[in-house]
Amino acid sequence: MWTQCWLNYNDCMKNSLSYADYFSVLYVDGFKLNKAISSAYEELQLAGEKLWGRSISISSSMPQRGIAFVKTSSDKRGEEGYRIYEKSGVAIVEAATEAAIIYGTFRLLALFRTDAFGIDTDITEIPSNPIRMLDHWDNMDGSIERGYSGNSFFFVDNNVVINERTKDYARFLASLGINSVAINNVNVKDAATDLVNDRFIDKVAKLTDLFECYGVKMYLCLNYAMPIEYEPASADPLDEKVIAWWKAKMTDIYSKVPNLGGFVVKADSEGRPGPFTYGRTQADGANMLADAIRPHGGKIIWRCFVYNCQQDWRDLKTDRARAGYDYFSSLDGQFADNVILQIKNGPMDFQPREPISPLFGGLRATNQMLELQIAQEYTGHQIDVCYLIPWFKQILAFETYMNGVDAPEDTTVAGIISGRARAGSTGGIVAVTNTGNDENWTGNDLAAANLYGFGRLAWNTELDAEDIAREWIQLTFTDKTDAYAEGEAYCAGTDKVAQDVIADILMSSWPAYENYSAPLGIGWMVKPQGHYGPSVEGYEYDRWGTYIRADWEGLGVERGPKGTGFALQYNSPNKEMYSDIETTPDELILFFHKTPYKYVLKSGKTVIQHIYDTHFEGYDEAKRMQAAWLSLEGKVEARAFANVSERFEMQAANAREWCDIVNSYFYRRCGINDEKGRTIY
Ligand code: GCU
Repeated sequence: MWTQCWLNYNDCMKNSLSYADYFSVLYVDGFKLNKAISSAYEELQLAGEKLWGRSISISSSMPQRGIAFVKTSSDKRGEEGYRIYEKSGVAIVEAATEAAIIYGTFRLLALFRTDAFGIDTDITEIPSNPIRMLDHWDNMDGSIERGYSGNSFFFVDNNVVINERTKDYARFLASLGINSVAINNVNVKDAATDLVNDRFIDKVAKLTDLFECYGVKMYLCLNYAMPIEYEPASADPLDEKVIAWWKAKMTDIYSKVPNLGGFVVKADSEGRPGPFTYGRTQADGANMLADAIRPHGGKIIWRCFVYNCQQDWRDLKTDRARAGYDYFSSLDGQFADNVILQIKNGPMDFQPREPISPLFGGLRATNQMLELQIAQEYTGHQIDVCYLIPWFKQILAFETYMNGVDAPEDTTVAGIISGRARAGSTGGIVAVTNTGNDENWTGNDLAAANLYGFGRLAWNTELDAEDIAREWIQLTFTDKTDAYAEGEAYCAGTDKVAQDVIADILMSSWPAYENYSAPLGIGWMVKPQGHYGPSVEGYEYDRWGTYIRADWEGLGVERGPKGTGFALQYNSPNKEMYSDIETTPDELILFFHKTPYKYVLKSGKTVIQHIYDTHFEGYDEAKRMQAAWLSLEGKVEARAFANVSERFEMQAANAREWCDIVNSYFYRRCGINDEKGRTIY
């Protein structure tokens, strides 16, 4: 069995009875009662029964009291927006499409469940981003690349699985308004190539239909090199035989799976072949596939994670951070309109802190998507709590100055990916997901806040990180426990004290993790391969281009004009800000500059004292959060309590390792004492 996360309809809450009467009949105006509309009806039945003991039937006219789905034209709120309001005893969800109705229905249920629906309710929601997506790195043997919550629920033993759990997952996505999902790993290996062949295509079609019933478009990751195995014996994007092969392939795929969203492609990256192999550009590769898929209405989501992973650590000039911009910026404007470039938030790889990729703001005529990672590869493996939404908010708010300093357009990252920065563009936001077949889906129960939070933020980038956290808590911890007397309308989610404790843990967790791991934006002090726990020089003499360049005087990579020049890839005034150590913000100083240990930061502390202080503080924070969680014993459901408690124990040990190893390493490097005289080994 598995948990229901924030769709846990076991709510004990105040006023719940006043909503019961809505769950008598449903009137559907303008839609057929099939696909997403019937899923929405099914959801109302489930919630009605579980929460209020009511069964809801279909009415053929607008009822006196009940719920109604009403179809409107799409000019009002677009294809995916909806309006929720109350009119004379009826709760109405009004929208242009079936998908929008199901998103709206889940929202209506959330309003009921948080006691936020009333006769004055009139809410219009229009999503911030055209594409709101989750990428699974699930392999067909059932393993998950960078998965920290069990195995895949899509694939077992090289086969595709479709069951009740898949359906629950689709419900989770719909409840957040996620409209796209790619189910297989970007590293398309072995059996996964066959997802677009006869071997699996029927199951792919079934799964695509299931997701469609929840307003979600399914995508696959494509093996760009696939035609090498077939008659063209090549993957050269300009070769006529290759072009013809892909056209025929797409026609075949879409004849069997007409509602497939399209493909995500990782090419020329970490051993995956791509257009470079044939002396072609990334645009040549992406456009060739885009042409082939165009007649079928599909999209090609082309990843920009292209860099040389065979670097020599002795080479001080080559800089992996530069690679994305170096490869893609000169191709701006050359990509087909059904191509979207998928760009990781930072120029390296999902570190706890990185600058924003300069491709945002560097590309002015290309569709772009922001790629985030809620799988906690570098942020604690879903053992350590690390609520990433505050970090994502900072990424979205970054001003790129794409059109200069005084431009009227919204040229923040959020503005660019939403399409607001450039008329006629499209884009969106995607996260590498953190789910697996663990009972609680996300390994650590608290990691589900990242899944929920990402979805809510993808829908509305203006939402506040703490508000999202509190909403998630309220909808998740809805089991009544012994701590609350019979008849009392409380559970941890609605109990002010418990809610505050959990919200505080979540909001403190990313700063704590940043404090006890790699300091001041340097990143990469992780154990190689696995990426959990400290190893200060773990990647220092390796080929991956991920160096910290520490010596007896200082540490950091010089990326200003006298170094690798990475800082010059930004638009002014960011370029100038990052070029000069004096104007580089503290939190990124080691990313941009080789900095002496004795350098005084804007905070007034030296770099070395900052390292000591943050590491001791980060460890203390981990222990404080652990104690706070333990204070909830009896208040949260026993299974969740045990799960998080156990993980906090490991987190505290991990934080201690980070603190001691990082501090000892730098103390031994520079010999400078801690001003506060704490024990450093
Ligand atoms: C990281 C990660 C890989 C993954 C890659 C990607 O490097 O460690 O496992 O394949 O990102 O995003 O493609």
